[in-house]
Formats: sequence, C-alpha cells, structure tokens
Amino acid sequence: MEIVIQPTHADAAVVAARVIEDLLRRKPNAVLGLATGGTPVGLYKELIRLHREAGLDFSGVTSFNLDEYVGIPSDHPASYHRFMHENLFDHVNIPAANIHIPDGNTRDIPKFCADYEEKIRQAGGIDLQVLGIGHDGHIGFNESTSSLVSRTRIKTLTEETIAANQRFFKPGEAVPRHVITMGVGTIIEARTCVMLAFGAGKARAVAAMAEGPITAMCPASILQMHRQTMLVIDPPAAAQLTKTAYYNHVYSNKPDFQKLSAFPVV
Ligand code: GLP
Repeated sequence: MEIVIQPTHADAAVVAARVIEDLLRRKPNAVLGLATGGTPVGLYKELIRLHREAGLDFSGVTSFNLDEYVGIPSDHPASYHRFMHENLFDHVNIPAANIHIPDGNTRDIPKFCADYEEKIRQAGGIDLQVLGIGHDGHIGFNESTSSLVSRTRIKTLTEETIAANQRFFKPGEAVPRHVITMGVGTIIEARTCVMLAFGAGKARAVAAMAEGPITAMCPASILQMHRQTMLVIDPPAAAQLTKTAYYNHVYSNKPDFQKLSAFPVV
C-alpha cells in the first residue's frame, strides 16, 4: 500500500485526480468504481475542472458505484444516484448508458446483485476503484464483520453508520436500514484502489486499515492484500499512523517514472 500524506484534503484530491486523469488519458475506455460520501467530493470537483479546462474525456468511461440505500427514490436528496449526478455525472461527458449504480428499489435484490457482478465482469472488471472509509473501517457499506470475500448483496447498516449518515437526511427523517453494496471481494478485484480519508475522525480507521491486523472487524484492512492500493490522506487522518516519516520519505523519493502515475494500466 502506498500512503501519501498531503497538507490539505484539497491537495489530496488533486493527487487522486491526477491518478485518474493519467489512467483516462492512457485508457479512455477505463472502468471506474466510484464512491459517495463527503470524502470524494473534492476529487470529483477536480475531475470536473480537468474535464472543462484540460479536455479530460469521459465519453468512453464506464462506471460502477459501490452502493445505494434500499427503499428511497433515486431522486431522494440523500440517494447515491442523486449524489453522483449532482457531484460528477451532470458535469462531465460520461454517457448515461455507461453509468451503473445499484438500484435500491429493485424488486429482486439477489438477482439484481448477481446481475451487477456480471455487468462488472462483462465490462472487463474495474480498472480503478475510488474508496472512502467509515469510522469503523468499513468500505462501501461492508460493515465490520462483513465477509472479506463477500460479493454484491444486501446489508443491514450499523447504528454507527446510520448516525454518521443522518446528516444527509432531513432532521428527524429515518435513514434506511438496508443497502445494496459491492462486496469486499468485489472491491478488491479492482486493478487499482485509491482510498481517500480526511479529518481526525478517520484517524483510528486509517491506522487500523494500514497498520493493524487484517480482520473483518476492519474490512478496509483487506487492502493490505491488494497489489495496487494508494491511500491519500490529510495530516489529521494520518495522526494515528506509526510510520508517517517512512511514508513521507517514500513519496518524496519516488523514482521519476512513478512520479505522476502511481500505477501501470493492466
Ligand atoms: C458511507 C459510504 C462509504 C463512505 C463512508 C464514509 O458509509 N457507503 O462509501 O466511504 O460513508 O463517508 P464520508 O466520506 O462522508 O465520511
């Protein structure tokens, strides 16, 4: 895992956007795995800026989102469909037909989930997966104790996640208890993972995922077994890491050929 500590979350977003830009310039028909939440908003803003000002082309891109709530309309202000359109898709030239987000209103959830997996497979697999991290180390909506080989499926949210996501709903409005999420096993099949985490509230989860044991109690820790994961964080999120001096040393001494693009296109 490459750990990149940037002075601010805006700088971190630029670093992550550069990795995606480099992928899209070299592979215009790349398959992106996308995340929601407050964390990737700055990254999406930077991708929109690159699209507008530097011609970054999304016309060949296919996307698969990690997750969605079950049982709220797709135009609900807190739905991940709406989030993705407002924060990225409405501002770049990705074709609507290439966008995939789990359907939280499907009548047959197991079939939908199996089909979602099949669509990822038919698209050639995910080239680059954007990830945030929950306070307890969850990725997507794979809560602690999720199987580390799980596939796309329905999950029940923990009280902690429900409370954390209440801010996206109206005061007093119930947060859905159920979600559809790519599994941990689905996520780690992505060729590259880029995880972002900002703020002191993520420090414990970041330390657990990067330096703790691999355990279903911290599903993100499975990324220690992934070949190409980049963790881009700000200093408050890095506060509980023990080897920050080493991570900074590695990043500032990267060989030239690795400087811009972290990873090869596979
Ligand atoms: C939710 C999402 C995750 C996200 C996490 C953290 O649980 N399903 O994909 O990483 O929240 O969200 P935030 O970035 O708002 O802290």
